[in-house]
Amino acid sequence: MALITSTTPAFPCAAPRRQTSTSAASAAAAATSTRSWPSFSSTILNSPPRLGPRFWPWEKVKLGPLSVSPMGFGTWAWGNQLLWEYREEMDGVLQETFNLAIRNGINLFDTADSYGTGRLNGQSERLLGKFIRQGPNKVQDNIIIATKFAAYPWRLTAGQFVKACESSLDRLQLDQIGIGQLHWSTANYAPLQERALWDGLVAMYEKGLVRAVGVSNYGPRQLIKIYDYLNSQGVPLCSAQVQFSLLSMGPEQMELKAISNSLGIRLISYSPLGLGMLTGKYSTSNLPRGPRGLLFRQILPGLNPLLNSLREIAQRRGKTMSQIAINWCICKGTIPIPGVKTVEQAEENLGSLGWRLSSDEIFELETAAKESPGKMIQNIFQTR
Ligand SMILES: NC(=O)c1ccc[n+]([C@@H]2O[C@H](COP(=O)([O-])OP(=O)(O)OC[C@H]3O[C@@H](n4cnc5c(N)ncnc54)[C@H](OP(=O)(O)O)[C@@H]3O)[C@@H](O)[C@H]2O)c1
Repeated sequence: MALITSTTPAFPCAAPRRQTSTSAASAAAAATSTRSWPSFSSTILNSPPRLGPRFWPWEKVKLGPLSVSPMGFGTWAWGNQLLWEYREEMDGVLQETFNLAIRNGINLFDTADSYGTGRLNGQSERLLGKFIRQGPNKVQDNIIIATKFAAYPWRLTAGQFVKACESSLDRLQLDQIGIGQLHWSTANYAPLQERALWDGLVAMYEKGLVRAVGVSNYGPRQLIKIYDYLNSQGVPLCSAQVQFSLLSMGPEQMELKAISNSLGIRLISYSPLGLGMLTGKYSTSNLPRGPRGLLFRQILPGLNPLLNSLREIAQRRGKTMSQIAINWCICKGTIPIPGVKTVEQAEENLGSLGWRLSSDEIFELETAAKESPGKMIQNIFQTR
């Protein structure tokens, strides 16, 4: 941990709020209580922590006033029973997953105030707050939480977005959020509400509740509009989150990337593994349970060229398909935030760092992706 800190002096702090004395014993007890959960790898957990990041210090990415690891981790699954089969018994494993990420220099974690189903609404933020406090050496420094505020129809004023931000801070037990993001734009269906969203971001920023602001699911046209508006209010727009992967690399994504580059906005790639389809572990005869299975059943039959190409390059390189898919996002100049549910997945995804695909390999992958009729469906809230 010492080396992580020494190589990352410019990291901002996720300032903790009330410092409680969560003991190492209670953290250990939480982990022990989950020992029966499948794929809990004692080998990995018992191995000594790495001494530093898996990437070079100069590979850190400047995002407005922040400096983030070239990959973050997504936490949509942490609290979501419907799509991701979350159960509270997983919390010990999720804590270890978080710890592993921190020990390896990952300092960006994406969440949202709407993550968590039913009574577990807000669970992803709550768990992150708890994990930060119980993390390795109780390190709060350097951790950047990027949360997203839902454009619920009842959030009609800037003040309501400020309240939403304060509620997130409570769940996260922090005094300041790294990146406050609008989860989606209402331009497609309630254009009059949009201004409240934008003014909400301005107010959070001016009150110092967030260090930087970003958007999610904004298309090129809407991105320019909000950029100009925030700029007129003296608020820099630092990031744009979008579904971006070998399964989602259409002209809109490329246009968004070009516009983001020209405006100095960082693109954050969500679902970089196509919800798991690009890992290679699913097939039409091995589908995940629930709604993902229904979606995969439609898309997977059209993915053979892409999956074959991922597999071939992975074999040649001595990498895994997930590592190739995530590395492609990094090579395209974006910050991928793969979702992780286990220590093993985090360990594997960390292997996406510290190397780059060649331009020939990128071309091969993109050609295979274009030849594959299967494509990811776009988020219904994505705007033009
Ligand atoms: N802004 C938005 O509207 C929006 C929308 C979606 C996501 N996001 C953000 O982006 C993050 C990532 O996207 P995502 O979670 O939708 O999809 P993803 O990153 O494409 O896929 C994540 C899932 O793939 C599986 N997986 C991950 N690493 C693996 C590995 N190495 N080997 C095998 N399986 C692996 C896990 O699920 P299984 O083990 O169950 O297969 C994991 O939950 C989210 O957590 C969230 O923070 C944002």
